[in-house]
Amino acid sequence: MTTPVYQWQPTTLEIAARAGIDPADVVRFDHNTSPATVDWAGDAAAKVASGLNEYPGADYRPLRDAIAAYTDTDPDQVVPGAGADELILLTAGAFLPTGGTAVSAPPTYTLYAVATGQRDATLVEVPRRPFDFGFNVEALKEASRTANLIWLCVPNNPTGHRDPDDEIRAIIESTSAIVVLDGAYAEFTGDRWSAWLDEYPNLVVLGTMSKAFALAGARVGYSLSSPTLAAELHRRRPPGSISTLSAALAERALAEPHWAAANVEGIAAQRDSLAGRLSEFGFEMSTTVTNFVLARVGPGARDLAETLMWEDGIVVRSFPQAHTLTFYLRFTVRSPSENDRLIATLSRRLP
Ligand SMILES: Cc1ncc(COP(=O)(O)O)c(C=O)c1O
Repeated sequence: MTTPVYQWQPTTLEIAARAGIDPADVVRFDHNTSPATVDWAGDAAAKVASGLNEYPGADYRPLRDAIAAYTDTDPDQVVPGAGADELILLTAGAFLPTGGTAVSAPPTYTLYAVATGQRDATLVEVPRRPFDFGFNVEALKEASRTANLIWLCVPNNPTGHRDPDDEIRAIIESTSAIVVLDGAYAEFTGDRWSAWLDEYPNLVVLGTMSKAFALAGARVGYSLSSPTLAAELHRRRPPGSISTLSAALAERALAEPHWAAANVEGIAAQRDSLAGRLSEFGFEMSTTVTNFVLARVGPGARDLAETLMWEDGIVVRSFPQAHTLTFYLRFTVRSPSENDRLIATLSRRLP
């Protein structure tokens, strides 16, 4: 079996060098990050600077307390990690036995396949319906019955839509396997998945500081689950994968969640405007509730993405040949001026 590997995008420095532009002029429409930045990061970092000769407290108690307060859970339900990505790998390590079976609903976040492959496990992929990308619920329930771990991404990346509660519940209730519900974009729908934990002891919810909280560079994510499942994850967690600086930034951000809420509101307004302007190029836009939009561009999608990246320094997410979304491009919602630049560049590049 070949283990799938994560496909890294070219870096901003590489793109700038090839496009012959300043790295500051490269705009990443491919990472689903926040265009707004917090303005207190330097102060928060300065406060912990004098303690950087020491390791962070291995139990990350202040960070877990802050996450617990934000998610309305107890600290013993919280496992912090270096991004939700680390928790994806950790949950596979803890709950997917070598040679076991996991289930996913592609197109979805690619790291699930990588994490499954690293366990030498089989990934049963139950494709989403064409066009509206909804779950194939009956097939997912059937596949989940005998699996060890189910990957669900709600709202889903890269489609940007949110599957309905009754379908998610039906899948969770069809199995005694661990269900990982990746809520990286939960702030964009106001979902509070922690409220489901009492009902479903097999549920592990993932969250991140990378999207609504605008701290992707800090690399902080977390899982929420029963204390029993959390203890399993803690046993496998590296003792210090979150730096003292990152923990301080996350704690500070979690102390003022209204900033993230306002950020989400601003992005949503820009999203609807961006989707409308992209549709004027004849792109078919999917309905999205997140900080990115998915456009069916047609057979020229991949070539267009290459041109935008290497000649204009505008990086959008394209999909491999033979992928369900090979004719699609995904665009992160950026600032108004960056979105304007995208539209102006597309106007130049498209007939
Ligand atoms: C669905 C999903 N899960 C997890 C992540 C990674 O989150 P983090 O930056 O916390 O590792 C992403 C990032 O794009 C994502 O889209």
